[in-house]
Amino acid sequence: MSCDTSPAPRHVAIVMDGNGRWAERRGLARTQGHRAGVEAVRRTVRAARELGVGWLTLYAFSSENWKRPKREIDVLMSLPEEFFDRELPEAIEKNVRILAIGRLSRLPARVRAAVEDAVQRTAHNDGMRLVFALSYGGRAEIVDAARRLLQNCNAGQLDSAALDEKIFAAHLDLAEMPDVDLLIRTGAEQRVSNFLLWQIAYAEIVCSGVMWPDFQRRHFESAIAEYQRRERRFGLTGAQLRAAAP
Ligand code: IPE
Ligand code: IPE
Ligand code: MG
Repeated sequence: MSCDTSPAPRHVAIVMDGNGRWAERRGLARTQGHRAGVEAVRRTVRAARELGVGWLTLYAFSSENWKRPKREIDVLMSLPEEFFDRELPEAIEKNVRILAIGRLSRLPARVRAAVEDAVQRTAHNDGMRLVFALSYGGRAEIVDAARRLLQNCNAGQLDSAALDEKIFAAHLDLAEMPDVDLLIRTGAEQRVSNFLLWQIAYAEIVCSGVMWPDFQRRHFESAIAEYQRRERRFGLTGAQLRAAAP
């Protein structure tokens, strides 16, 4: 049973996996699966907004995905532009702010320009944050944060003795990104695949056997209901939590 009084998760992150297998099972090229996956992105963004999710972070392309065949990468790299062409007006109208994380400098110039344009044109929106992880790796993000911190230390702007988790987190790709509450992975695998390693420290994880192109609003709602049934203890005992509950 879902608990209607529980709030929606503030930050939902999704590993959108299973496009290739979805296509292969239908005798289609893997790239057809990626195209079908864009429809699932549209549906999910809309559902997240309507369900009151504050942040939605979508794993669109990992640092490791650069090792895939060039033909597949080329199709994947054409999708952000296509998506923003169609979806940007609605994002602007619905007050969605688009952001991106990852080594964006590795993206082809056209893709980077499309992403930067979407980020810029929604920069003043203060509704749901929609974050695309592109050319993204969690370890790389942590290393980049460490590099920025070292530079600040060397420049005398930060005392290494003052470093704590809050300061460290503020040097990640998006300083204001909150911890992930709910991590969803479609495609029947149960692994993290280098996604948001810092931010998922206490995320509830829901793995779904549904391939990403088949992911519907009802699957999203059922993942949220599963999240709402869980007791998030953050290291405390259940009794401590119940004693502190209002
Ligand atoms: C996820 O689907 C999309 C990306 C990784 C870019 P996959 O392409 O990994 O699909 P499967 O896992 O091979 O089915
Ligand atoms: C994770 O899926 C990356 C994205 C969904 C973009 P992968 O298909 O690349 O992950 P692995 O290789 O199965 O771990
Ligand atoms: Mg996969």
